[in-house]
Amino acid sequence: MIVSGKPWLDTEGHSIQAHGGGIWAEKGRYYWYGENKGGPTLAEPRCGFRVDVIGVSCYVSTDLAIWRHAGVVLKARSDEPDHDLYPKNILERPKVIQCPATGRYVMWMHIDSYQRDKAAVGVAVADKPEGPFEYLRSFRPHGCDSRDMTVFRDDDGSGWLIYSSERNDTLHVGRLTDDYTDVAGDFTRVMAGRRREAPAVFRHEGRLYLITSGCSGWFPNPSETAVADRMTGPWTVLGDPFAGDAEGTSFRSQSTFVLPRAGGEADEYMYMGDRWEPKDLGSSTYVWLPMTVSGTRLRIEWRNSWNPEMKGL
Ligand code: GAL
Repeated sequence: MIVSGKPWLDTEGHSIQAHGGGIWAEKGRYYWYGENKGGPTLAEPRCGFRVDVIGVSCYVSTDLAIWRHAGVVLKARSDEPDHDLYPKNILERPKVIQCPATGRYVMWMHIDSYQRDKAAVGVAVADKPEGPFEYLRSFRPHGCDSRDMTVFRDDDGSGWLIYSSERNDTLHVGRLTDDYTDVAGDFTRVMAGRRREAPAVFRHEGRLYLITSGCSGWFPNPSETAVADRMTGPWTVLGDPFAGDAEGTSFRSQSTFVLPRAGGEADEYMYMGDRWEPKDLGSSTYVWLPMTVSGTRLRIEWRNSWNPEMKGL
């Protein structure tokens, strides 16, 4: 069962540390990667609160409910003050996709300085989904500032990077190189001027969908979605998918990923969001809810608990 907004434990009884994360699924297994925030929450001038970088944790499951910790698959570099992964820097929103051309698993993440003025992406690679991941480098995609981000592997094997740019004013979408470790060519501006972050992308019946949050730091806000026929747009804004969300807070969550649900109905998806606890970030919980698409309308309803394998819900 999935019980959103409550503490979740792994098979060893430890709280699951996979914030701002995403899932890679293959061969009947789900690999959930996210920020390990299992350290003290510290005051920070820019965003109020932070946890020093510990690394990216990976959890493995066959049913989306019982999770085994496969370890911190990309670790902080505590002894290297000049390294991107030095604990005083920022590592957020890690996502992994497998590259069809190389067979390798490629992790993309938001890399930033303590002051959040580096605004870059980081890339790491592994031969197996459980890692370990080798960190390659950070850079500004297309020479642009990049903060919240995600990557997406489309049905034709193309890889895409979607990132908040222009000081979070506008999303940029750009294709990845064939080996998925860089961006190729130019970018497209999406939801220009709408100040969106926390992007999550999925494909349904020939169309692409994007879920985004607004910009209010660790505090939740209404989501906004968009649909397009191709990644390079044009994207049409659709509105807020949360049904009966009286507070206008996306059920007190911020988007991070959408998972097509194996075992469910063909047109059912799982929305994954973070319910941040700013003053104790490591105790932030997860809001995972079934999402349906009818026509081009996305709909997410609250469930106190639900079984992700159940048909028809
Ligand atoms: C959010 C962002 C998070 C984190 C946070 C810091 O808007 O989505 O990933 O950066 O701000 O305040």
